[in-house]
Formats: sequence, structure tokens, C-alpha cells
Amino acid sequence: MVSLEEVEERIRRCTRCPLHLTRTNPVPGEGGFRKGVMFVGEAPGRNEDLEGRPFVGKAGKLLDELLLSIGLTREDVYITNVLKCRPPGNRDPEPDEITACSPYLEEQIRLLSPRLIVTLGRFAWAWTCERFGIPYRKLTEARGRLYSSSTLYGVVRVFPTFHPAAALRRKDVEDILREDFRRISELLTSL
Ligand code: URA
Repeated sequence: MVSLEEVEERIRRCTRCPLHLTRTNPVPGEGGFRKGVMFVGEAPGRNEDLEGRPFVGKAGKLLDELLLSIGLTREDVYITNVLKCRPPGNRDPEPDEITACSPYLEEQIRLLSPRLIVTLGRFAWAWTCERFGIPYRKLTEARGRLYSSSTLYGVVRVFPTFHPAAALRRKDVEDILREDFRRISELLTSL
């Protein structure tokens, strides 16, 4: 069986889709994973592409703050994205890019076997629905609840919420995100 480090190394060398031609750095994901929680975003943005690290821009600062609000740091979680390379101009991921990149996220989930997967935004939520056979509902209706699915490697638990970037533009979204993080904190005491 490959290790997480090997998967991260394969991502760094990946040429499976045209995004490798425009990226500065692939962004495999990172985190100490002490509390067994995985956060999945959409795709690297400009700052992440420059640094090769997930959520290091403004949305990342808010994510750090939300984590801290429930007593977590990056040492406690693993943070990654559906796409490991930046779409030019931060456009939405294309279906072909998601298909090409999906085996990496699948391997990361299988290897880490997280207690809880928190999806940030609609792309990560839709990806987990499709991958784990969770009936898809719009994120505005689905968010803030726990969904479970049995897989060949055990039960996967998914908690969808909004993307922190959306909260930078809308205070009502920020309030919901804060509420959802409090729920995550409660869930972690009972899972
Ligand atoms: N937005 C994302 O979805 N992922 C990142 O890593 C940064 C911003």
C-alpha cells in the first residue's frame, strides 16, 4: 500500500490534466491530523499556487480563525482540495479536471481514514455525494448536518458547510459558518 507521502509526491509530479501546464506549484494538502478531521476545499487559488500550500490566502486566514474558535489548529486536521492545481484565474473546476484529480483525494481519504470529512463549498460537497453515494441536495439545504456512507474501507462521515471565501463577501454566510463550526466541535466529542 502506498503512503500518504507517496501520494503527495505523485501529486507534485502529476501531469494528468492540462492544469499542470499553468500551475506554479501543485498543492497536495497538509496538516498534523492529530484529531482525525479532514477539510476539503475546491482548488488552490493564487496564493496557494505560489506557496504550494492549501488555504494560505484570505479564505485560509478565516479558516485558521474558525478552527481556533473551536480549539483546533492545523496540527489537528488535514486540509486539502478536490483539485490539486490552480485553475487559471480561479475559474470553477471543469468536470474533466475533477475526474483526472479524483483518485488523489480518494487515496488521501482511504489512507487517512478520517473520523470526519468537512467539505467547504459546493464542489467538495458534490464530490463526496457522488463518490460516496450520498443523495445530493443543494448546499444551502444540506449544510450543517452529518451524512454517513458505508464504503469498502469503513464508514465515511461527511459534514458539509460553506466555503470560507463566500463568508468574506457575506456576513450572513460567515455567521452560518461559525454556527457550523460549533456543531463540528460538538460532533467531535461524540464521534
Ligand atoms: N480556496 C480553496 O478552495 N482551496 C484553497 O486551498 C484556497 C482557497
